[in-house]
Amino acid sequence: MAAALAPSVLSADFARLGEQIGDVAAGGAGLIHVDVMDGHFVNNITLGPAVTAAIRKVTDLPLDCHLMIENPERFVEAFIDAGAEMVSVHVEVARHLHGTVQTIRKRGAKAGVVLNPATPISALQDILPDVDFVLLMSVNPGFGGQTLIRPVLDKARQLRAMVERDGLECRIEIDGGVTEDNLVEVASTGVDMIVSGSAIFGTADIRATTERMVRVLAGVAEGRA
Ligand code: DX5
Ligand code: ZN
Repeated sequence: MAAALAPSVLSADFARLGEQIGDVAAGGAGLIHVDVMDGHFVNNITLGPAVTAAIRKVTDLPLDCHLMIENPERFVEAFIDAGAEMVSVHVEVARHLHGTVQTIRKRGAKAGVVLNPATPISALQDILPDVDFVLLMSVNPGFGGQTLIRPVLDKARQLRAMVERDGLECRIEIDGGVTEDNLVEVASTGVDMIVSGSAIFGTADIRATTERMVRVLAGVAEGRA
């Protein structure tokens, strides 16, 4: 199964969000990655449930809300009400992680936990069986357009091995610094979902870029790349 491409709207033109989401959807994106930032957990502020609800109206693709916010437990339901199918919270700030994961799942959404680049996989030890996906940050959160932190690729391989060894359903997503140049290498780690922002929305033809990347992912899955 090819990894799904998850364009991150953080790098889109916020004045043309509907149009550009249409471009990535037409290009074969599997989900829309919505980066939520509160200016506390990260030094940036982006969008909230209201914009998420607006995005919901313009696409049928699953919305993958990545909460880079303090006290995420306070907002997970608001994003689900806004239409998010997937909600991920950072282990570094989720004081009641098991309860928050339970809340997300109880509301019918997929629950994800996020690890910053320096947070070890061991931090997932007691929650891995309870989550639907793990989001591995391959950049330090806060901004698009950064360079992929390469040791995270080993982390992805390690997590893939753990999930298979323990027979878990958990899917793996990687986020940050993924471009057409490193896409084959990233996909070859065995991740299920790949976020890419500036490498897609920063190009002249968003739909064509998306199509190219989706074709590469199909090739990796078939062993052609
Ligand atoms: C960073 C975000 C990422 C980012 C990815 O805090 O979580 O999703 O938008 O953008 P690129 O692909 O440009 O690194
Ligand atoms: Zn993200």
